[in-house]
Amino acid sequence: MDYELNKSQIPAHIAIIMDGNGRWAMQRGLPRTAGHVEGVANVRYITELCTNLGVKFLTLYTFSTENWNRPQDEVMAIMDLLVDNMDLDLFMRNNVRFRMIGGIDRLSPAVQACVRELEEKTKNNSRMTAVIALNYSSRWELTQTMKEAVREAAEGRLLPDEVTEEYISSHLQTKFMPDPDLLIRTGGELRISNYLLWQCAYSEFYFCDTYWPDFHEEDLHRAIATYQQRQRRFGLTEAQVENTNTTEN
Ligand code: FPP
Repeated sequence: MDYELNKSQIPAHIAIIMDGNGRWAMQRGLPRTAGHVEGVANVRYITELCTNLGVKFLTLYTFSTENWNRPQDEVMAIMDLLVDNMDLDLFMRNNVRFRMIGGIDRLSPAVQACVRELEEKTKNNSRMTAVIALNYSSRWELTQTMKEAVREAAEGRLLPDEVTEEYISSHLQTKFMPDPDLLIRTGGELRISNYLLWQCAYSEFYFCDTYWPDFHEEDLHRAIATYQQRQRRFGLTEAQVENTNTTEN
C-alpha cells in the first residue's frame, strides 16, 4: 500500500529503536548475529530513505549500556559489524553528517577510531545528521549531566536558579540536535528501554510488530503518515492548537 505523505510535514527528527534482529534470525534457524548483519544492511537503506525524504536528524539506538550483558560473542559480533560497516562512502555520497552519542571510553580502540574518523570526515555534510547511540542509555546520560552540574556548583560556577530545562538540554549528549518528533520502535515491544527519556517528552510514538531487518520503505511511510495524522498539542487544548494553526496559515 502506498501512503500519501505531506512533504511539508516530514518529521525533522526521527529516532528509532531497531528491535527484532535476534528474532528475525531465529525464525529462519540462523544465529542471532545473522539478524544483526541484516539489521546493518537495513540501517544503510533507511538512512538513505530518510535523507531523500528530507529528514534532518535520524537517531538510531544501536547499543545500550545494558547490552554489554548479552553473551560476549554477540557483543563482539555487533562491535565488529560496527567497525566493518561504518561506511564513509554512504555518508559522503548522501551528504550526511555522522555523530555518535553515548560513552565512547568503554568502546574498543578500533570502534573509537572509526567513530572519530567518521565524525571528523563528515562534519561539514549538511543534508541530514545520522546519529548512532552507542554505549548509550538515558539514565546514564542524565546522571552525567547531574554530575557536571554538581561539579560546576561546587566550583561556584552554577547557582540553583541557573539549573533550568535549557541548562539540562544543553548538557545532554544530544545538545546538538532538536528533540525527536517521531520515535519508532520495531519488533513488537511497547517500551522505550532507557532511550532519550528527557528528549521524548513530546515526541509522537509509533510501535510496529515488524522486525528491524524487515522494516522497509512502506513501513517507514506508514509510520510517517501516522505521525502526520496526529495533532501535537504540547500541553495545549485542541482548540488552542487549531487557533494557532489558523493564525499561522
Ligand atoms: C536489537 O535487536 C538490536 C540490537 C541490540 C543491535 C542493533 C545493532 C545493529 C542493527 C547494528 C547497527 C550498525 C550500524 C552500522 C549502525 P535484538 O537483538 O534485541 O532482537 P530481539 O529482540 O529479537 O532479540
